[in-house]
Amino acid sequence: MPATSEDIAEAARVLGRGGLVAFPTETVYGLGADAADAAAVARVFQVKGRPASHPLIVHLAGTDQLSDWAGDVPDVARRLAERFWPGPLTLVLRRGSRVALEATGGLQTVAVRVPAHPVALALLAAFGGGVAAPSANRFGSVSPTTAEHVRTELGDGVDVVLDGGRCEVGVESTIVDVTGDVPAVLRPGGVTREDLEAHLGHALAVPSTSRVRVPGQHPSHYAPRARVVLVPAEDVIAEAEVARQRGHRVGVLVPPSAAGVAVKAHAQIAVPASTAAYARGLYEYLREFDRQGCDLIVASTPADEGLGLAIANRLRRAAGPRPAE
Ligand code: TXA
Ligand code: MG
Repeated sequence: MPATSEDIAEAARVLGRGGLVAFPTETVYGLGADAADAAAVARVFQVKGRPASHPLIVHLAGTDQLSDWAGDVPDVARRLAERFWPGPLTLVLRRGSRVALEATGGLQTVAVRVPAHPVALALLAAFGGGVAAPSANRFGSVSPTTAEHVRTELGDGVDVVLDGGRCEVGVESTIVDVTGDVPAVLRPGGVTREDLEAHLGHALAVPSTSRVRVPGQHPSHYAPRARVVLVPAEDVIAEAEVARQRGHRVGVLVPPSAAGVAVKAHAQIAVPASTAAYARGLYEYLREFDRQGCDLIVASTPADEGLGLAIANRLRRAAGPRPAE
């Protein structure tokens, strides 16, 4: 059932009492708490199973609230905010005094964004303050893109789950650090590097997607239960066959270039040719393979351009070494 205005008003009251509210954004669902309430923020970390040193994103209703939550807003931040908010862009700025230190993992910087989802914006406007929210999944696992994902994964840990349908973008926001001399992309996401560069008029440093190290990003992240193996697109079908012969229950993300090629696998999903459609479905595909009991997923990464950069980044992280290995 989609959230009604009464549900949203009640959720805002729950936030005001220090409760936790899962809410839809255009990227993925967030697990929100009052960003000024240290105890509420501590519960977010507890419910997610996330180490306290990993900072959260503070969500705001509008750019006009920025000066309340950030200590210093450089021109470049204003230019990016004007162009891309509401939208899937997160800016890292100097921390303002209203933000609970717990929300920033003890850092003197804060990540902020104005999401482009009517339910999120209504909630943020009704609440009036900043809402600290990581993706509403257990630490390290696949981000939720439906309310059902959140309920299944976090259950009673959340006081309210607002349903806003399936997330349009499907991968998390792009994080840009604007505290230094030049803006730096910390995480590729829903706003493409090309769009950022076109607006800024210069090239941006983007970390190698296979070796991004920012706080809160461990080698294996965005990961389903099944192990993920990445190979070039032309090798996906053969790799899946070899894994099947070795006794794996294989899930295959069939790349557009292999569409229609016969593949013997436990489960298979044809990757859409459009990267926007691929990004929208990516986490659902990974969850589906888990649901079907696959223990291995064979996939290839799309080209590192447009939304393909974010998809490739998430797949590489999903394929990263597991803590238990
Ligand atoms: O699309 C999104 O960004 C979603 C929705 C719910 O807004 N949120 C999300 O949050 O993906 P989370 O917690 O899963 O990822 C937040 C990322 C982490 O990688 C964290 O390290 C980074 O933001 N981050 C937060 N504060 C930071 C800071 N002060 N400096 C550098 N990175 C920061
Ligand atoms: Mg996350």
